[in-house]
Amino acid sequence: MILVTGGAGFIGSNFVLDWRRLSDEPVVNLDKLTYAGNLDNLASLQGDRRHVFVRGDIGDSALVDSLLNEYRPRAILNFAAESHVDRSIHGPADFIETNVVGTFRLLESVRSYWSKLGASGKSDFRFLHVSTDEVYGSLLPDEAPFTEEHPYQPNSPYSASKASSDHLVRAYHHTYGLPVLTTNCSNNYGPWHFPEKLIPLCIHNALGGRALPIYGDGQQVRDWLYVGDHCSAIRHVLASGRIGETYNIGGLNEKTNLSVVQLICSILNELKPRADGKSYAEQITFVQDRLGHDRRYAINANKIREELNWAPAETFETGLRKTIQWNLDHSAWVSRVTSGDYKNWIDIQYQSAAPEIR
Ligand code: NAD
Ligand code: TYD
Repeated sequence: MILVTGGAGFIGSNFVLDWRRLSDEPVVNLDKLTYAGNLDNLASLQGDRRHVFVRGDIGDSALVDSLLNEYRPRAILNFAAESHVDRSIHGPADFIETNVVGTFRLLESVRSYWSKLGASGKSDFRFLHVSTDEVYGSLLPDEAPFTEEHPYQPNSPYSASKASSDHLVRAYHHTYGLPVLTTNCSNNYGPWHFPEKLIPLCIHNALGGRALPIYGDGQQVRDWLYVGDHCSAIRHVLASGRIGETYNIGGLNEKTNLSVVQLICSILNELKPRADGKSYAEQITFVQDRLGHDRRYAINANKIREELNWAPAETFETGLRKTIQWNLDHSAWVSRVTSGDYKNWIDIQYQSAAPEIR
């Protein structure tokens, strides 16, 4: 079986759902259920004996040791993290605790478990660490996209904490021989995306008649990838990636934030026109920029394409349309996750910028 951490979050739950659909191999899912973890995402797996959910922290060594000894996974996929840049700016401590210390403690438990496996168990074992392109820092407009050799230049507490975890994973391979794989992916979007990130936030706000907040001039560039394509890339890396290697994953899909929000508006105009007949684009509002905002990310995904024969299946247009339709079809899910802690977050993040957003 495999052990997934953070499998109740956005990407982790997509991965677990896809895994259960495509494979008979059981999955143990360890998740702390922070504000970002949601068991509703996994409701369709109720009664499925091949999915075992365990609520807990990757940094709880006693718990992780006992799970490893009980379930004896052949692979661990580490999705668990604090993942929102703006939250890391307001309060970095949780990012250090989970992304750095938690990953370190997880690696220690895994090293201890792995070192006691037999020869073939040891060589077949994999620790796959899911990371981000943000560790590479920001690109100038005419700079070449990030390759796996690009120097690490993280700029936010989030990306610095992820960079730190990547370095620990690398060191556990180099020093102890742990068979690790690391993936560095660009911005994801798709089903089960918590509406604090740009795309689901704007879909949610548009439908609620609220402002669509664009930081600064909206000309920052991100490379967007449909989450199902990220999950398929991770399966490729797990199956055939070379031990100790890093694989960059991207959508070949650079877009400015403003153009992303404009496209959301035009698809919504078609799928769910506003009652007054006006465009959702009227709700676009420019707000105060993010501190230290990275200007551009872009991924060179040649290595994973050439070595592992992976390419994204969705274009941005098809993936975004699916995502918007998913949000329209899952309004009950969105309402449930937008209560409680999320409302407090909106007050903290947007109060000085544009009061009408709340
Ligand atoms: P998310 O915030 O939606 O989910 C994170 C999950 O981890 C949640 O279910 C949360 O409860 C769980 N978690 C947090 N701390 C934990 C802990 N200490 N122990 C156990 N579980 C814990 O994040 P996501 O967007 O799904 O991202 C998943 C991974 O992919 C992260 O490592 C992130 O850095 C990386 N990544 C994300 C993106 C993106 O665009 N979202 C892009 C590239 C890489
Ligand atoms: P986000 O979805 O938070 O992902 P990341 O910061 O990891 O790239 O943000 C994507 C881009 O959208 C980023 O440049 C910040 C910008 N943004 C806004 O302009 N307004 C918003 O309300 C949010 C949440 C993000």
